[in-house]
Amino acid sequence: MKLLTNAEQIVSCNTNGKNFKKGKEQSELEVITSHTIIIENDLIKDIVPTQSVKNPSGYEVIDLRNKIILPGLVECHTHTAFAGSRADEFKMKLDGVHYEEIAAKGGGILKTVNAVREKTLTELVEIIKPRIEEFIAQGITTLEIKSGYGLDFENEIKLLHAIKILDEIYPIEIVPTFLGAHTYPIEFKNHHKVYLEEITNKMIPHIAKNNLAEFCDAFCETTAFSSDEVDMIFVSAKEHGLMLKLHTEQFNNIGGIDVALKYNAVSVDHLEVLKDDDIPKLASADIVCDLLPGVSFFLNYQFAPARKLIDSGAIVALSTDFNPGSSHILNFHLIMQLAALKLRMKIEEIINAVTINAAKSLKRNNKIGSIEIGKKADFSIFDTKEYSDIIYSVGRNLNCMTIKNGEVIFS
Ligand code: NIG
Ligand code: FE
Repeated sequence: MKLLTNAEQIVSCNTNGKNFKKGKEQSELEVITSHTIIIENDLIKDIVPTQSVKNPSGYEVIDLRNKIILPGLVECHTHTAFAGSRADEFKMKLDGVHYEEIAAKGGGILKTVNAVREKTLTELVEIIKPRIEEFIAQGITTLEIKSGYGLDFENEIKLLHAIKILDEIYPIEIVPTFLGAHTYPIEFKNHHKVYLEEITNKMIPHIAKNNLAEFCDAFCETTAFSSDEVDMIFVSAKEHGLMLKLHTEQFNNIGGIDVALKYNAVSVDHLEVLKDDDIPKLASADIVCDLLPGVSFFLNYQFAPARKLIDSGAIVALSTDFNPGSSHILNFHLIMQLAALKLRMKIEEIINAVTINAAKSLKRNNKIGSIEIGKKADFSIFDTKEYSDIIYSVGRNLNCMTIKNGEVIFS
């Protein structure tokens, strides 16, 4: 048994059993003081007044004086599994060339696909490792990683295998998502139907049968998949028991919201150009709106309407979208800070977004995302006395200890 004691604050993100925060609730944040967390094995056994803890002998005591405790952070949207660099495209973007223009010329995602195809499984694992270590050092205890840079059977499976191997190597939980529908690979540029069949008849059945992914994602965009094409992919994914996510409303509105709602997707991600008419639809559905302010910042583009979404009653999460093209930002804390400065989210809303709501976006909100008895003993410990400092310290990562399943995995 372990005791986490003497922390200045325990920011619990407690939802009283509801396990997500929606609309106005998102600004409610339970902060407990003068309490000790008792950990038994991998679970939170109790949260008791510190003065009532009389005889801590036999317990391992972790003294968190001058520190605060948050639930382990949940990063629910990343493209961490990639090879190569797109620094050249970044330079072009600084000269004013648009992201979509680069993609249309065969750069963008397809450039990373070439780099991934050249790497072996072992090489990919080695390339990805330090990125995961960087996430762990930021307090992340659950990390979603998508495939999506293989874009053929062999290479999509290779990426998902790499993600599985990394999940076995590292103590955090890595959640795999299949994103074969990221864009059309060059060899199927003029044969969309054939690639769609490859996804629905070959990749999805194999991935589901071998438990290589929990979620199926797609990119609904003019340069990628139409809403009808996403519809076909979702039918197959659902049939094979995969849960759904959708990249949508990044640059254009082409029907992504309706198809995500039609198939009860767990989340819709991006939403930079979300139409006002679609906000009430999302607010009244059981769906997480995962916002990615790093993309708008990195591409110098408009930000998603976070305020309108929360004020209308939606469930909002936040992620880095870490990838080589549109958000080369492996800094979860900067994303939280951008959410305050650019999305006009309140600090309390942001903390709920990266814990309990992000856990909902990975369908794990009954197990992680808040500090409550019976939940996993996953914590992010911050070197500060007050939670606002996490956001106020722009550009900094104040996490000083990461605890996963009751074990200290970074300090
Ligand atoms: O989430 N929107 C599509 N996919 C990624 C970008 C991937 C890339 O440019 O490599 C995103 O922004
Ligand atoms: Fe993404």
